[in-house]
Amino acid sequence: MKLGCCYYPEHWPEERWAEDAQRMAAMGLSLVRIGEFAWSRIEPEPGRYDWGWLDRAIETLAGAGLKVILGTPTATPPKWLVDRMPDMVAIDEAGRPRGFGSRRHYCFSHEGYRTEAARITAALAQRYGAHPAIAMWQTDNEYGCHDTVLSFSPAAASAFRGWLAARYGNVDALNTAWGNVFWSMEYRSFAEVGPPHLTVTEANPAHWLDYRRFASDQVASFNREQVAIIRAHAPGVPITHNFMGFFTEFDHHDVGRDIDVATWDSYPLGFLEQFWFSADEKAAFLRQGHPDIAAFHHDLYRGCAGGRWGVMEQQPGPVNWARFNPAPLPGMVALWTLEAAAHGAELTSYFRWRQAPFAQEQMHAGLLRPDSTEAEAADEVRTAAAVLADIGPQAAVKAEAALVFTYEAAWVIGIQPQGQSFRYLELVFECYSALRQRGLDVDIVAPSADLSGYRMVVVPSLPIVPDGFAERLAALECPVLIGPRSGSKTASFRIPEGLAPGALREVIPLTVTRVESLRDGVAEPADGFTVTRWREDVASDLAPELADAAERAVVSYKDGVRYCAIWPDRALLALLVERMAAEAGVALLDLPPGIRVRRTQTHVFTFNYAAEGVFIPHLGSLLPPASWHLDPR
Ligand code: GAL
Repeated sequence: MKLGCCYYPEHWPEERWAEDAQRMAAMGLSLVRIGEFAWSRIEPEPGRYDWGWLDRAIETLAGAGLKVILGTPTATPPKWLVDRMPDMVAIDEAGRPRGFGSRRHYCFSHEGYRTEAARITAALAQRYGAHPAIAMWQTDNEYGCHDTVLSFSPAAASAFRGWLAARYGNVDALNTAWGNVFWSMEYRSFAEVGPPHLTVTEANPAHWLDYRRFASDQVASFNREQVAIIRAHAPGVPITHNFMGFFTEFDHHDVGRDIDVATWDSYPLGFLEQFWFSADEKAAFLRQGHPDIAAFHHDLYRGCAGGRWGVMEQQPGPVNWARFNPAPLPGMVALWTLEAAAHGAELTSYFRWRQAPFAQEQMHAGLLRPDSTEAEAADEVRTAAAVLADIGPQAAVKAEAALVFTYEAAWVIGIQPQGQSFRYLELVFECYSALRQRGLDVDIVAPSADLSGYRMVVVPSLPIVPDGFAERLAALECPVLIGPRSGSKTASFRIPEGLAPGALREVIPLTVTRVESLRDGVAEPADGFTVTRWREDVASDLAPELADAAERAVVSYKDGVRYCAIWPDRALLALLVERMAAEAGVALLDLPPGIRVRRTQTHVFTFNYAAEGVFIPHLGSLLPPASWHLDPR
């Protein structure tokens, strides 16, 4: 795994670039990502390009032996462009245009902006496509960041109508699919259909689902246009996009198909603070991040672009954007770096080289302070670089467990949660965590992935079952766990004929006759676990494997397949992992809290995410906080 950093030569006097480059190389870095926000410097006036500074920046970095990852600057269209085409900005759900003065203010559907984005991409790719120092290209930056996938602009509305016409052919088919007879929502032509916002009460969930699919397709096609241009000028040079954490607004598997390397931006402390974690977890992992946050995304993104992946932005110290921004424990930056290697990353790049003394991110740490002295993380980068040099290249193994994940499931459940604490991403994360706590390696895969060869398969929830999926599950010989709400909707957001779990009845013969959601704080004890958040009534000839206090089926079992009819709490997940592992003959570890293990083809990594030293039974030794242990396999 190579190490790198994110660098903004345009922020610093040119006299400093050479020294920066030398210091990067001396620290053990070999990659530098640049350019992704530099449009106003690359093209200060419409049609007038200023390549000189970028040529020299690339030469300077290359002169120090560094390779460059070059980003297209389309996340930051300059003021002159917005002034020329004021309607290129996205419109938010409340109908307000998104203003100039930060970033990502464009609408993915605006044809004029697309032409401009293609033009600047082509200009950059023409200039640097054959440059020997460019090791990788990055398209745009963090599609969707700051809530920018959905736009409700006239351009988006018009593109949506075209998308619907292509999907349904005629408007009667749309009316039928969506059930528009309900509340007299029928349309006489596609021209009458708009985006599903500003309605009096909730819009039709089928309308929302198609709007989300459409918006996701717009992101994918925007990306595809850039990829095609870059490929034409830089054949053979890998292309990446830097995805985000805990982000489901577009289908990353779709975008992943068009790129060569899926990278993501890892900010474990910010994510712990901003997401659903309990106050106890936020306290326990304040300066380390929850032990599964980084690993979850590593295992997810490894499955997005055919196996090649990396970390494009690694948190090096306190960030600026969470509600609270603690500093990592000494050692964590090195630990996070090695955790990426343990999951098979090909690069980890720190965000950013030097903390900016100006503008929005001046409170965000870098590897250097604004005065160019080394920040705390710098030494840890050297440590990580030394360990990586010592152990040599690490390659991911095929994991024991597959966890089936879809973006569409997140949309379906988000559109119609039915209980506000039913969060799809949290459910998937809890399943992941239950597997990882017992020392299992996990591949997070799309439903279309080849599931053969896994020792167990977990489907946390799959409301819309893709064609052929049930048959592929039926053909598996390993234990399978299917979670609540699976098979509960058709592709057009209707309850399936014959009720849930729809097509999955082929693998588990039962019918969900009623569902209920439970408010936060309600916890109904059962034998060894608790019913919280969600419960389904199940009709079946199968005798329940596990039941609640009122003898209603909680887990149904047939021929290696389990259906779980409640939101599974941690105790239930732990029990199910144990049963599946026993059936599959897979050995489990008893890991103390905060300890995680991950295998590559050559090594076993053990990481301590706890804030204190922990005795590790399987090693027979004490692991200090924020440290790791490495064994050859
Ligand atoms: C990312 C983004 C970077 C920077 C960073 C700060 O979301 O890609 O440009 O803003 O966050 O943590």
